[in-house]
Amino acid sequence: MSHTVAPGPGPAHRRPLVAGNWKMNGLRGEAVALVKGLLAALGAGDLERVEVVVCPPFTVLGEVARALEGTGIGLGAQNVHWADRGAFTGEVSGPMLVELGCSYVIVGHSERRQFFGETDETAGRRLGAALRHGLTPILCVGETWEERETGRTQAVVERQLRTALEVALREEPGVPAVAYEPVWAIGSGRPASGADAQEVAAFIRSVLADVLGPERAAAARVLYGGSVKADNVADFTGQPDVDGALVGGASLSAEGFAALVRQVCR
Ligand code: PGA
Repeated sequence: MSHTVAPGPGPAHRRPLVAGNWKMNGLRGEAVALVKGLLAALGAGDLERVEVVVCPPFTVLGEVARALEGTGIGLGAQNVHWADRGAFTGEVSGPMLVELGCSYVIVGHSERRQFFGETDETAGRRLGAALRHGLTPILCVGETWEERETGRTQAVVERQLRTALEVALREEPGVPAVAYEPVWAIGSGRPASGADAQEVAAFIRSVLADVLGPERAAAARVLYGGSVKADNVADFTGQPDVDGALVGGASLSAEGFAALVRQVCR
């Protein structure tokens, strides 16, 4: 870390957000069973306290939307294209997601960056489209282990965040949720420490303040993601600048994900 950033303003006014990223998991029957299990395991009080979102694969969004109707659990997609329509084989647009009932979308996930050539620039264009269509974007940023070991965490996160925001804001104003997801912590069973997550989350908020102004930065949700489970989520959400979690593996079990939501503290 090159320098330390003081914690931002009190977190009490930011409602915690927990999003389950199912990745490429969930055939139709499994997806509906998972949502039904989650609804059975979560109480109304949990959903009042914590904003809960599930992000299934595109193929089951319609099915999951029907199962979630009127429940208070939000629906998100795992990606969105920047154009509304056109010759973009394999892509899915904002209007398509809105029509299916999505209110959230993950943008710039490190697996998209690692395996599918996503860049800061394309993440920014997708971010702009999400804002344009009224979807709440969850923009993912985070360093590799090598970048952390060589002291470049803040530089990498700042570049990812500034580029995406600059590209997006050229076409559409708005405030994304930002998920700090160190690449080395994703799916590894080796989460960051609460203190490390807080340090980067506060830094992210300072960059947001610089680009968007202090008020919008104070209202933005900054999440942590990477090997979050029921038994460690409070280490993160107990931090002043960490307003929730983006959860992969642990969101695939209804009981596990519900237990995790119940452990979220502020
Ligand atoms: P994980 O994934 O919880 O399985 O580490 C997090 C993510 O990729 O968003």
